[in-house]
Amino acid sequence: MSVFRPVAADRTRLINPFRVMDVLERARQLELAGADIVHLEVGEPDFATAPQIVAAGVKALELGHTAYTPAAGLPALRERIAGFYADHHGVTVDPSRILVTPGASGALVLAANLLLNAGDTVLMPDPSYPCNRNYVHLVGGRAVLLPPVTPGSPAPTPAQLDTVYDGSVKGLWLASPANPTGAVIRADEVKTLSDWASTHDVHLLMDEIYQGLDYLDDPAAGALDGPAAGALDGAAAGALNSPAAGASDGPAAGTMANLPTALGYSPNNLVVNSFSKYFGMTGWRVGWLVVPQALAATANILAQNLFIAAPTPAQHAALRAFDADVTEVLEQRREAFRQRRDFLCDALRSVGFTLPWQADGAFYCYAGIERFADDSEAFCQMLLEKHGVAVTPGTDFGRHDAHKYVRFAFTNSLPRLELAAERLQLALR
Ligand SMILES: Cc1ncc(COP(=O)(O)O)c(C=O)c1O
Repeated sequence: MSVFRPVAADRTRLINPFRVMDVLERARQLELAGADIVHLEVGEPDFATAPQIVAAGVKALELGHTAYTPAAGLPALRERIAGFYADHHGVTVDPSRILVTPGASGALVLAANLLLNAGDTVLMPDPSYPCNRNYVHLVGGRAVLLPPVTPGSPAPTPAQLDTVYDGSVKGLWLASPANPTGAVIRADEVKTLSDWASTHDVHLLMDEIYQGLDYLDDPAAGALDGPAAGALDGAAAGALNSPAAGASDGPAAGTMANLPTALGYSPNNLVVNSFSKYFGMTGWRVGWLVVPQALAATANILAQNLFIAAPTPAQHAALRAFDADVTEVLEQRREAFRQRRDFLCDALRSVGFTLPWQADGAFYCYAGIERFADDSEAFCQMLLEKHGVAVTPGTDFGRHDAHKYVRFAFTNSLPRLELAAERLQLALR
């Protein structure tokens, strides 16, 4: 009698495991054996969720808000997110275009299913967030990774896009600020890329999950200026309004979101965002996706089928996340991240790492190890095993020169970063 042996579907073989999880697991083993490990590998804020948000979540549970919400999310939360775009970006987004999802991850899965046919190509930078190419592969699409024009460039250029463009290209997926580089795509570049996408019948999907966590002093980088307004045509022209339009009673503009949203450049652009990073709610699992109006109804049907809804108590908690007293807490945390960024970048340079990408946002430095090694996985293993510093190899994020880079996440306190710097000095001097 033959014995049934379960076999995973062929497409699962296209999906790579996260090497950072191996680093984390090994770090935990070492800790169990008594080692002191400085964790700079994990991409989530080390701050607990702001107490006001926690209280709102507890209250929601006490009030019995434990049933499903509509698939696209609590109407009040969708309104609130629309208010965020009006207040902070001067962009009017109809709440019907906003779908609340289980994290940005849910938004990306939804977007891949919404937009891609088998055989479609999506262009994305190398390096970039590793899950994105897997979402594309899982729906039968093809992710094509574009190496940086020069190390340190935050986005592909139109000329580079032209060289790889063919009729199968249906999507351009970017993130700003980006993981793993911390690089920010400036306003004029977002507009140029949005225009390129429009003229090639390609959708632009911008992952703005790290918005709010930027450390730029130059407000012009994020200004929603003339050219951006001009990018909207016809019926969409009304989408750009003064900040007062549709404003909720949120905090004053000038905090939380200094960078431009891709929604300001074309009504066809899609935006992914989340309460995970700036709002410090990774484990609550709430994010959102903004889709073009013409796709909202289909996206809603897909959301019903894929998730039914994002977690209800978490959505109630997220309703509190835009309030001024919470922004105050989050802005203090942003300042702490900025100090850590300043310290870590200096420390890494003085040890001998190169930093081609400007860590202007998120909480990552993507550092070149060419002075020390040419195998980032072995290098990370050596730092962890011999020196108690856990970092992530570049091979998690792409292929192009990935063996020459490691990602440092400054999701740990300044004293712990100082300890890491001492250990790096010792290891690499
Ligand atoms: C660029 C980027 N997008 C999406 C995600 C997923 O975030 P979420 O926790 O909201 O699902 C991450 C998580 O690290 C990320 O770095």
